[in-house]
Amino acid sequence: VIAAFQPKALAGKRVLITAGPTFEPIDPVRGITNRSSGKMGYAVACAAREAGAEVHLVSGPTALATPYGVMRYDVTTAVQMHEMVMSLVSGQDIFIAVAAVADWRVANASNQKLKKDGSGMPVLEFDENPDILASVAQLDHPPYCVGFAAESENLLQYGEEKRLRKEIPLLVGNIGHETFGLDENELVLFDEKGNTRLPRADKQALARELIQAIAKRI
Ligand code: CTP
Ligand code: CA
Repeated sequence: VIAAFQPKALAGKRVLITAGPTFEPIDPVRGITNRSSGKMGYAVACAAREAGAEVHLVSGPTALATPYGVMRYDVTTAVQMHEMVMSLVSGQDIFIAVAAVADWRVANASNQKLKKDGSGMPVLEFDENPDILASVAQLDHPPYCVGFAAESENLLQYGEEKRLRKEIPLLVGNIGHETFGLDENELVLFDEKGNTRLPRADKQALARELIQAIAKRI
């Protein structure tokens, strides 16, 4: 009964979230992408909304429905995601970068479908994509920035190093790196005090715990 009268953890806050993969075209029918279903990012958006926040979700290509009450902006490439985030970031209190952003885009993408015409294999060249999280963290008055990291090894070491390199107060590591598309995950939170585990649970429950952990820190 008393809980019903407690203010929601993020009441009155504005939260910007990225989710899903990006897709970088090679030609009109092919591209390069990252493994991400978007489930974790969408769960975080849903949990932030439940906690009373106004939520803006910038999403790469996913097969998911927009969570109730969330404003969604669809993008395809990392450059588009960067532009959309920068256009929405002013006035946001919290930025949570859950998207699996492609680090490189194809510099010599073709306007026409590449054909097996006997001229040999295509040779792809790459340009580096903007680091969206680092761009936001480096603003003059940044929102509270939260990053996500999926490492294939040395998570405890790489996680803390990545948090410091990106100059962000909180980084979330995926402990199970083979949880792509699954409904469950296991997380570890890195902040200036060290690391804390959120034991294996479904992504919606973990997202609620993460939102409470963020609310406690802002
Ligand atoms: N990120 C981003 N823009 C990029 C690359 C990453 O916003 N161009 C964000 C991701 O959304 C995530 C965090 O940065 O929140 C960490 O992403 P990750 O790929 O683990 O870090 P990188 O700095 O790209 O390092 P690496 O891939 O070499 O491990
Ligand atoms: Ca990366």
